[in-house]
Parts: sequence; structure tokens; C-alpha cells
Amino acid sequence: MAESTKHATLTIGDKTVELPIFTPTAGPDVIDIRKLYAQAGVFTYDPGFTSTASCDSTITFIDGDEGILTHRGYAIGELAEKSHYLEVCYLLLNGELPSPAELEDFEALVTNHTMIHEQMHNFFRGFRRDAHPMATMVGVVGAMSAFYHDSTDIADPWQREVASIRLIAKMPTIAAMAYKYSIGQPFVYPRNDLDYASNFLRMCFSVPAEDYVVDPILSRAMDRIFTLHADHEQNASTSTVRLASSSGANPFACIAAGIACLWGPAHGGANQACLEMLKEIGTPDRIPEFIARAKDKNDPFRLMGFGHRVYKNFDPRATVMKQSADEVLELLGVENNPILQVAKELEKQALEDPYFADKKLFPNVDFYSGIILEAMGFPTSMFTPIFALARTVGWISQWKEQLNDPQLKIGRPRQLYQGADLRAYVDIEKR
Ligand code: SDX
Repeated sequence: MAESTKHATLTIGDKTVELPIFTPTAGPDVIDIRKLYAQAGVFTYDPGFTSTASCDSTITFIDGDEGILTHRGYAIGELAEKSHYLEVCYLLLNGELPSPAELEDFEALVTNHTMIHEQMHNFFRGFRRDAHPMATMVGVVGAMSAFYHDSTDIADPWQREVASIRLIAKMPTIAAMAYKYSIGQPFVYPRNDLDYASNFLRMCFSVPAEDYVVDPILSRAMDRIFTLHADHEQNASTSTVRLASSSGANPFACIAAGIACLWGPAHGGANQACLEMLKEIGTPDRIPEFIARAKDKNDPFRLMGFGHRVYKNFDPRATVMKQSADEVLELLGVENNPILQVAKELEKQALEDPYFADKKLFPNVDFYSGIILEAMGFPTSMFTPIFALARTVGWISQWKEQLNDPQLKIGRPRQLYQGADLRAYVDIEKR
């Protein structure tokens, strides 16, 4: 960590403490409060971590006011346009763009680990067919620690490497199997002659009864969706993975915890919730009714796909996703998709509304992704599993970074206790 050259002075009663200030590569200065309790006997209070840095990291940076997102310094717009998902995976995992040979080796490594242990197929058969695919993924990914014992020891760098590749390689297979199981179709095995995104599309949409040829434009759109969801600083699910890992839990358990957290509609579940909201709105003339509900403090309804804890400007991923939506829908000949028309009109009306402008509520990554995924043939229940598939590399990169931190301690927040003071037990006869 960089040396601090500045200090903050905090005076509490008769105590004055000097707190080091760190200046990051980018973003606001950070006050180091690690010694605050020892020196001043007080805690800080920040339940949603709105002003709290939980770690130092070199992987991803977001400037919410400027709508900037970079991975290892490279802007997301450039990566989405010029790179592809497995190259972004290499960048997130290793910190630098790969040479041609490094990229070839990495892609071969991932490609050759896409199958799952045949006996794991039985796990799927324990679930109801109508189980949400996220429930299946949480279960199956957690169960990987019951199969891949040779890559669960986090103290062994080699086992950490093997677990990383296994997870990145097998998530598309597991997600596709969860989908096939939910629609009663046979599992489709991965193929080593297909790229990552094409393999996933084929595992989802091909059937033994006929040949399936992946449309390169859909495959490119799928790959771009993976890239746009790869990592995003210390979001809720990444923080979950870091906290789980800080106890020494095995990588499969930590990633299963991340999947569970991502499922929530305030987080990765928003893409499914957003499309369901757009369908409920149905036609542009009903938009004012929903905007009024979103603004009504007495109505818990929120515009799904709008707002963000960090972005107080456009989510740069939404900008790229919007372009992709236009391309994919035109390709599929559904550029007049009524849902897309509702989405574009909703975005226009919301951004013209002072409520959203004043609160800096802009479309986020989930606003347009669902429209593309539905146009590609996915049911809404598969939207968040696809987000989880893509975010696995971000979770793994942050997990590895944390394990390599010599200052790693188990995460154990304190609290502001407002419960009952010490009191004696009262026998039931006297109550
Ligand atoms: C993701 O963290 C990440 O990086 C996440 C993510 C990633 O890649 O990992 O980017 C992925 O999770 C994107 C966000 C997807 N979620 C949604 O689209 C769900 C709808 N959005 C909201 O639930 C909300 O905006 C959050 C949860 C995303 C952010 O909430 P915050 O930062 O806790 O903000 P808040 O709830 O305190 O809201 C601030 C104000 C409130 O009004 P006041 O109490 O100040 O009067 O804005 C209002 C909120 O009521 N508000 C909304 C709103 N979002 C916030 N009002 C209407 N519609 C909304 N969508």
C-alpha cells in the first residue's frame, strides 16, 4: 500500500488522534481508521459502506460522477469494442493484456476444462424442474467443493490457480445445464472447437434432433455482455466473496456465496426484474403511471434498471449495451420490439423528470441487457445466471488479490448496539 503523506486529525472529547490519509491512483483520498478504536475507543458507523473502503485493490476503478469504468486501467468502452471476454479475463486475473502466445495458452486452458464431472449431473436431478436456475447454480457450484478436492486448499497457489480456471471454464456449462434442466431438454456437452460465447449459446439452444450453427453476430453480442459484466469493484456480491474468503473458505463455497448475493433484485437480479417491469408497463402510454409510482415515497416500487450506488452519471456499460441492443434487434428483425420501444421511451421520460435528474438516477447495466437476452431467446430466469457466469472472473480476480494480501485478516465488522442493557433472567413463574 502507498505510504501516507497526509494525516487527518480527529478530536473526541479529551482525545486527539492522527489518522493517516492515503492518496489512491484515482478516486478520493482514504482515511486509515484501522487504529481508531485502539487509540480513541470509538467505532465508525456506515451500514451500507457508502463512505467506507473495505480493501485496497488494483483491479477495477469506477468514477461514478464521470461515468468511468476501467479494468486494470483500460476503459470498458475500449475493451468492449476491441477486446473479447477471455482476453478481459486474462487481464483481470493477471493485470496485463496477454501476448498472442499467452492468450492462446489461456484460451486453450479454459477450453479444455469446460466439462464438469459426469457424476455432478446427478445434482441437477435432485432439483424440481421449475426451480429457478440461480437456485440450481448456487447448489451445483457449492457442490463443486465436494468433487474437486484437489483444488480447495487456498494455501496452495497451484490449487488456487486450478480452482480459478475450473470455475471460469465450467460456469457456462453449469448455467446452460441449469437452463436445459428447467425446460426438460437433454444436457448439451461443450465443444472444444467453439469459442467461449459460441459454446455457451450452443449448450443452451442446440438439441440432439438437429444441427445448430451459432450466429457470429449473436455470439459477439453474447461475448460483449460477458465483458460488460466481468467485474465492478467492491459491489455487494464481490464483497460477499471477499468476506467469505477471509475466513479461509474454499473457492467454490465463496463463489456460491457470491452467486447467492447477486440473485437479489437490487443487484444482479435487477435484469430479470427490469424486463418483467417493462413487460408490465407494456405500452409507452402507461409509462407516466410507473414513473409516478417510482417517485411515490409510500410505494416501494422502484424503476428496475435505474440508479446505482456509485454511478451518479450514465453507467458506461449501459451505453455500450444500448448500442448492442439496437444491433442485435435489427439483426433479428425485431428492431420494432415493443419492449425496446417502451425501454427507450421510459429512459427518455425518466431522464427528463426532475426526480430522477436531481437524484442522479440513470440507466444501469441491467436496463438494456435483459432486452438483448430476451431477443436472443433466453427466458428472464436465465438473465441473472448469465450475469453470474460473466462475473465469476471478477469474483475470482478479487478473491485471488485478497489471498495474496499479506495483511489479510478475517472480516469482522463491529456494530452500533442499541439493544437492552445487561439484565437478570426472570423465572417464568414471575413473568
Ligand atoms: C447492479 O454495486 C454494483 O456495482 C452493482 C452492479 C455490478 O455490476 O455489480 O453495478 C450491478 O447491481 C446494478 C444495480 C441494479 N439494481 C437496480 O437496477 C434496482 C433499482 N435500483 C435501486 O434499487 C437502487 O438504485 C440501488 C440499489 C441500485 C442503489 O441504491 P442506493 O445507492 O442504496 O441508493 P438509495 O436506495 O439510497 O436511493 C437514493 C434515493 C432514494 O430516494 P430518497 O430516500 O433519497 O428520497 O434514490 C431513490 C431512493 O428512493 N432511488 C430510486 C431508485 N433508485 C434509488 N427511486 C426510484 N427508482 C429507482 N430505481
